[in-house]
Amino acid sequence: MNQIQADFDRIAAFADDGWNHNNHYHGFLLKQLPPRCEQALEVGCGRGAFARLLAARSGHVTALDLSPEMIRIAREQSAAYPNLSYKVGDVMEYELPDDYFDCIASIATLHHLPLGPALLKLKAALRPGGVLLVLDLYQAESAGDWLTSLVTIPTSAALNLLKNGRAHASPAERAAWDEHGQRDVYLTLAQVRQTCAALPGARVTRHLLWRYSIIWKMPL
Ligand SMILES: C[S@@+](CC[C@H](N)C(=O)[O-])C[C@H]1O[C@@H](n2cnc3c(N)ncnc32)[C@H](O)[C@@H]1O
Repeated sequence: MNQIQADFDRIAAFADDGWNHNNHYHGFLLKQLPPRCEQALEVGCGRGAFARLLAARSGHVTALDLSPEMIRIAREQSAAYPNLSYKVGDVMEYELPDDYFDCIASIATLHHLPLGPALLKLKAALRPGGVLLVLDLYQAESAGDWLTSLVTIPTSAALNLLKNGRAHASPAERAAWDEHGQRDVYLTLAQVRQTCAALPGARVTRHLLWRYSIIWKMPL
């Protein structure tokens, strides 16, 4: 955890508000919100871009991240959102209320944790009718995964060029991500689906840009 925190304290300095592989899916995730969202939680909020979108659609948002530097920047950028509270902490150590949240979202974060225990912890914090929204990275395994990955390479470069005016991040930013990436381990989609047995009826979907999503609604 100390190394992950150090990695993201470093990465925080590079992040900008341009298009990326995670925020490409913000619209998709927001479409899954319940019609009435009083209490929302984001786990691994980074600089708070999605937390602010949630705050515009929810009564109150709690946004948690391991990296103090990410949270410092997130707070700086969220002064206009009085219904958004940022917390620094490791979600697995953090005390979450039971049966409480209408929505819990987590983007590109759960691969840093053991997925099964993390899903069970978040499940316990959802109230009946609440939704869990996970977007994360996976390890390609099947022919379909590799084909999707192949299509993603030019798609990603083209979208980067179109939306950010450049095909790649700066060398310093790429070095920080590459170093962090050496420590990242991703589950295969088969492993994700197996782990999601703890969430009966969960929808696991493979997306472009090396991402998958889990969408699950806690039964009423
Ligand atoms: C790849 S970044 C994604 C940030 C943000 N969700 C986004 O889409 O831009 C992963 C984030 O998860 C945070 N993180 C990693 N492990 C965590 C943990 N155990 N508890 C809370 N946050 C964690 C990191 O500090 C980092 O900010």
